[in-house]
Amino acid sequence: MAQQDDVFKKIISHCKEYGFVFPSSDIYDGLGAVYDYGQNGVELKNNIKQYWWQSMVLLNENILGIDAAIFMHPTTWKASGHVDAFNDPLIDNRDSKKRYRADVLIEDQLAKYDEKIQKEIDKAAKRFGDAFDEAQFRATNARVMEYQQKRDALHERFSKALNDNNLEELRQIILDEEIVCPISGTRNWTEVRQFNLMFKTEVGSTAEGASTIYLRPETAQGIFVNNLNVQKTGRMKLPFGIAQIGKAFRNEIVARQFIFRMREFEQMEMQFFVKPGTELEWFSKWKQTRMAWHQALGFGAENYRFHDHDKLAHYANAATDIEFHMPFGFKEVEGIHSRTNFDLSQHAKYSGKKIEYFDPETSESYTPFVIETSIGVDRMFLSVMCHAYTEEQLPNGESRVVLKLPAALAPVKLAVFPLTKKDGMPEKAQEIIKDLRFHFNCKYEEKDQIGKRYRRMDAIGCPYCVTVDQQTLEDNTVTLRDRDTMEQRRVAISDLRGIIEDKVSITSLLRKIDN
Ligand code: GAP
Repeated sequence: MAQQDDVFKKIISHCKEYGFVFPSSDIYDGLGAVYDYGQNGVELKNNIKQYWWQSMVLLNENILGIDAAIFMHPTTWKASGHVDAFNDPLIDNRDSKKRYRADVLIEDQLAKYDEKIQKEIDKAAKRFGDAFDEAQFRATNARVMEYQQKRDALHERFSKALNDNNLEELRQIILDEEIVCPISGTRNWTEVRQFNLMFKTEVGSTAEGASTIYLRPETAQGIFVNNLNVQKTGRMKLPFGIAQIGKAFRNEIVARQFIFRMREFEQMEMQFFVKPGTELEWFSKWKQTRMAWHQALGFGAENYRFHDHDKLAHYANAATDIEFHMPFGFKEVEGIHSRTNFDLSQHAKYSGKKIEYFDPETSESYTPFVIETSIGVDRMFLSVMCHAYTEEQLPNGESRVVLKLPAALAPVKLAVFPLTKKDGMPEKAQEIIKDLRFHFNCKYEEKDQIGKRYRRMDAIGCPYCVTVDQQTLEDNTVTLRDRDTMEQRRVAISDLRGIIEDKVSITSLLRKIDN
């Protein structure tokens, strides 16, 4: 674990050093759980968004995009349930004066049991080698069985407390499990209280009678309230979807793990409206589709898993998370929810407008059911960074840090270097960029020796580097270096676009998932 913490710290400082992510208002020492994206970060983030947007809107004729405002009529949040129930259960430690989410403390405790079990398994696997049978070991080893029993009992108690919204029981679990504050090391806990996560502000001046409005805590409601607009103007038939990318805001109390949990973040959400009764079939289809989208990035199937929810919101009839193996464990990156007709019915009730679909096949009108896919851009960014960050020992004894980003997501696709700053090499290099910059993001670099320039490009995940040398001036060929293999080959300048363009395009990813 300590080693993993170490890696995570290195990723955070790499993000800052190479212009991916900076603390917000850095010169004022930052603002908790708020971050800015730098020159490379914004490119990577835009590429992630493009990959998602195109997979939804380009590849599906029945999914349309919108861009709704962040501010919404305040009744929206009454109807959606956020005013009354968008809460986190919080607990304070009286000695450290630190505040925690009670559910997160218990989830961490569950993860500790999992770690203990895994440790026993790893030890035994090492001892028994090829003859090791994990299933048998789990079923017979006394220590593993004891940990598993404790974990299962805790899990059951925790799920029940969450489902019953029983705050006293959550506190009792924390006491019974002897969970201590990581700062003070004591068990001097307060009661558990509910805390609403929405940021409030006011619209209009006080004299005119200002009213409270909220910064949206999710983009989904902008989609629900536009259901009729899009259905009518887009002449949509069920099933159809509406996709949106945009900022969301939550007053997260436990802001941890860098950009994993932020107060201002971005979501990519798609609400898919279906005929009642078909929603579970669509839920299962969207689970597979979304998992395929993640896996097309080539990070390895073993790094993803579904986590089906124990606690279903009262309006949902199925929910799962796609989790990714981060350096701090498997964590939610995306949620897929079958939300019945709750949201549309609520908005119909509160607005007094009929939000229904007339089915020409059955000549009936009904409120569509909804499958939602909701992914955080920043969490996706973090998972990409965590997987890409690699420290390598090279055969010549040197080492390098390389971001093995999927080429389609890399901020810069091609770096062009003149070997020296004379003999017309810089001009030739600029000429290459001038031609290729219309097709993909290129960068010119002439400072330092070539080796250093390669390292700088490795550190931002640039998949290709080209060097212009004396021979280039004679025969219009350059050396093309591959980031991952570090192999160099001589190619004609006129072939560069053909070699690179397809490999670095979002289309190359979309092709993998279009079936
Ligand atoms: N409309 C459904 C919804 O908002 P959610 O599970 O609360 O569901 C969906 O959020 C996704 O948004 C999460 O899977 C996560 O990727 C991202 N997300 C949520 N809260 C976040 C936060 N505080 N910081 C960064 N990303 C967050």
